[in-house]
Amino acid sequence: MPFPGLKPTATSGSNAGPLAGQVALITGSESGIGRETARAFCRQGAAVVLNGRQATRLEATRQALAAEGYQVAACVADVTDYAAAERLIATAITTFGRLDILVTNASISMRAYFRDLTPEVFRQVLDSNVYGSVYPLKAALPYLILTRGSVTFISSISALNGMPSGSAYCAGKAALANLAHTLRLELADTGVHFGVVHIGFTQNDADKRVLDAAGRSVPIAYRSPRWQKSQAEVAASILRHVRRRRRRTVVSALGYLILVVHTLLPRLGDWVVRASQRRLRNFYE
Ligand SMILES: NC(=O)c1ccc[n+]([C@@H]2O[C@H](COP(=O)([O-])OP(=O)(O)OC[C@H]3O[C@@H](n4cnc5c(N)ncnc54)[C@H](OP(=O)(O)O)[C@@H]3O)[C@@H](O)[C@H]2O)c1
Repeated sequence: MPFPGLKPTATSGSNAGPLAGQVALITGSESGIGRETARAFCRQGAAVVLNGRQATRLEATRQALAAEGYQVAACVADVTDYAAAERLIATAITTFGRLDILVTNASISMRAYFRDLTPEVFRQVLDSNVYGSVYPLKAALPYLILTRGSVTFISSISALNGMPSGSAYCAGKAALANLAHTLRLELADTGVHFGVVHIGFTQNDADKRVLDAAGRSVPIAYRSPRWQKSQAEVAASILRHVRRRRRRTVVSALGYLILVVHTLLPRLGDWVVRASQRRLRNFYE
C-alpha cells in the first residue's frame, strides 16, 4: 500500500503480481545472480532499478528485461563511492517515486592468500563488500523508512566459517551479518526489515572475474558443477527471503552443514577445511 506523499509505480498487465506497485533496487545487477534476482522481482510485478559499473553491459541487461515487458531503470554507479550511491537511489525515486526493497548484491571476490595480498587489494575487496552495502543503504534509508521497506545484504556461506584464499572477502561478508543485526536492533521501531542471505556455490557467468594477490582480474577458482546451484534457484531464495522478511537465509545444504559444524564442532570444521586445502588445491587457488 503506497504511503501518503509516495507515488505508486504504474502497473500494467505484465507488471501484475504480489509485488506490483513496489520498487526494488538491486546493486550489481548487470550480471550474474544480481541480474537473475532482478528478473525474479520483475516477474512478481516489482519495478526494478538495475546497477553496475559497466555502462554497455548494464544497458544490455536493462534492454533484455524491458523487452520481456518489465518496468526497469538502470544507473551506472560504483557503490563504494557515496555520491554515486546517492545518485543510484535518486534514480529509483525520480523514475518510480518510491523505494521498497534494497538488495545489496554488488561485490568483488578474490583468490589470493593473505600472505601474498597487497594492502590495496585487501581494501578494494573489503570496501566493495562493506561500503558497497553501507553507502546505498545510508542513501536509501529515509525512503525505506517511508515504505517500511526491506533491506537484504548478500553474503556468502564462506562468511560462516572463513575460507582460505578469501580473507578480505570473508571478513567483508561476515561484517554484513553483524551490521544487519545491529541495524535491526537500532531501527526496530521503523518497521524496516534487515536480513542477510548466505549464498553457497553458484553457477557463474562465463566472464566473471575476481582479484588475485596483485589486483589482476582472473577467472574464479574451479568449483565442481554438482555443488553449484543455478542463478535462478539462488534468485528464488533471495526473493523468498525478502517476501517473508527473514533475518537470515542460508541457501545451500553445504551452508547449513558449515553452520552446524562451526557452531557445535569448530575444530572438526577446521580439520575438514585444512584437509580439503591439501587435496583440492585448485578449489582455493
Ligand atoms: N557466485 C557464487 O558462487 C557466490 C557464492 C557466494 C556468494 N556470492 C555473492 O553473490 C553476489 C553476486 O555474485 P555473482 O556470482 O553474481 O558475482 P558477479 O557475476 O561478479 O556479479 C557481481 C556484480 O557486482 C557488480 N559490481 C562489483 N563491484 C561493484 C561496485 N563497486 N559498484 C557497482 N557494481 C559493482 C559487477 O559489475 P561491474 O564489475 O561491472 O561493476 C557485477 O555485476 C555477490 O555478493 C557474491 O559475493 C556468490
